[in-house]
Amino acid sequence: MASIIVVGASGGETAVEARPGQTVMEVIRDAGFDELLALCGGCCSCATCHVHVEEGQGALDLGAMSDDENDLLDSSNHRDGRSRLSCQLQITDALDGLRVRIAPED
Ligand code: FES
Repeated sequence: MASIIVVGASGGETAVEARPGQTVMEVIRDAGFDELLALCGGCCSCATCHVHVEEGQGALDLGAMSDDENDLLDSSNHRDGRSRLSCQLQITDALDGLRVRIAPED
């Protein structure tokens, strides 16, 4: 079990328990953040699960970004060095303490 902190678009933040096997997108969605649309359901084809990793990037092993994820993030006006697609981030116990902010909608 890992505890991750989710910051919503309005700035409110919530600590959420996450189970290995889930994706960060699923954890955010199940926690009731309806501003994370995740329209494709995690198929890496929509980019509406875009988050900014505020803590953990570099310090935690988030897994490598695929070419598809990279290409999709290029379509966002809000991409920066913290950007990831949350459906591509697998929860592991090592991600305890991860902090992600839901990116503004494009
Ligand atoms: S949910 Fe569509 S790319 Fe992540």
